[in-house]
Order: sequence, then C-alpha cells, then structure tokens
Amino acid sequence: MKPKTKENIHKAFIGEAKAYFRLQAYAQRAQDEEIPQIALLFRAIAEAERVHATRQLNLVKDLIVKDTDTNLELSFQREKSVSENVYPDFIKDAEEEGEIAAALVFSHARDAEGSHAKLYERAIMNVIKDQVKAYQVCKVCGYVTDKKIPKKCPVCSAPPEKFKTIES
Ligand SMILES: [Fe+2]
Ligand SMILES: [Fe+2]
Repeated sequence: MKPKTKENIHKAFIGEAKAYFRLQAYAQRAQDEEIPQIALLFRAIAEAERVHATRQLNLVKDLIVKDTDTNLELSFQREKSVSENVYPDFIKDAEEEGEIAAALVFSHARDAEGSHAKLYERAIMNVIKDQVKAYQVCKVCGYVTDKKIPKKCPVCSAPPEKFKTIES
C-alpha cells in the first residue's frame, strides 16, 4: 500500500474509533438527561462509525494481523513496553503537572497491562491450563486474571461485583 494512503487510513481509523466512544458517552448522557430519542440517535451513529472504523481496519488487516503465534508475541511485547516505558513517563508528567486523577488512571493502566503481559507470556510458554474456561476482567482498571474473581482487585481495590466474566 502507498504510504500516504496508509497513513490516512490510520488517521481515519483513529478518528472513527474516537467518534465511536464519544458518541457512546453522548448517548449515555442523553439517557441520564432522560432524552431517549437523542440517546438512540447517538447510539445509531456510534454504530455507523464503528462500521467505518472496521472497514478501514480491514483495508490494512493483512499488514497488521499475522498468525496467532506472532500476534501473541507482539501483544506481549506491546504490553511490556507500555507498562515499562510509556505509562511510567505519562505518570511522571501527570504528577509534575499535579494532575492527580490522570496519574491514578495511568498507574492503574500500567499495573493492569502488567497482568495482560503475564497472561500472554503464559500463553506463549504454552502453559495455559486446559481448565481455563473464563477470564475475569476488572471493569474499573482493566486488570485480568484466569483465576477466580478476587475479593478485591489487586490493582485498584475494586470489589468483586466490579468484575466481568469473559467465557468461551
Ligand atoms: Fe493491555
Ligand atoms: Fe481493578
């Protein structure tokens, strides 16, 4: 693929993905303001932006989606790099600017990415136990475990009811 088009696809994808999340938040707000017709409109357009994002991603899929062994390895490397390099820098900047809420969100993300890296590493080493039927995801911080739902999230201390089960 030619470079300009490839770059534009990337930009378009990010724009559409952002729009999807923004419109979902607008829909939630309209719901809270008890304007269901507008909530519905935002949800419909959000779905349409998701279609755009998916189509754009499909244009470059062959460039970015490899075989599963490679995808696992790349995912492991990305998690490691964001938790060891990217987020620590973001945390430092947020602390320097006194942005306490952002620093907390970044530090939760850093720690949760560590849990993702561990799960990928286990998968790469081929030690996923056959009996893993479900993963538990903390809806507050994104911590993931293949064990039972903990009494409190080891990253953000959220209670058990904040966990979502992802099962096969
Ligand atoms: Fe992650
Ligand atoms: Fe958590």
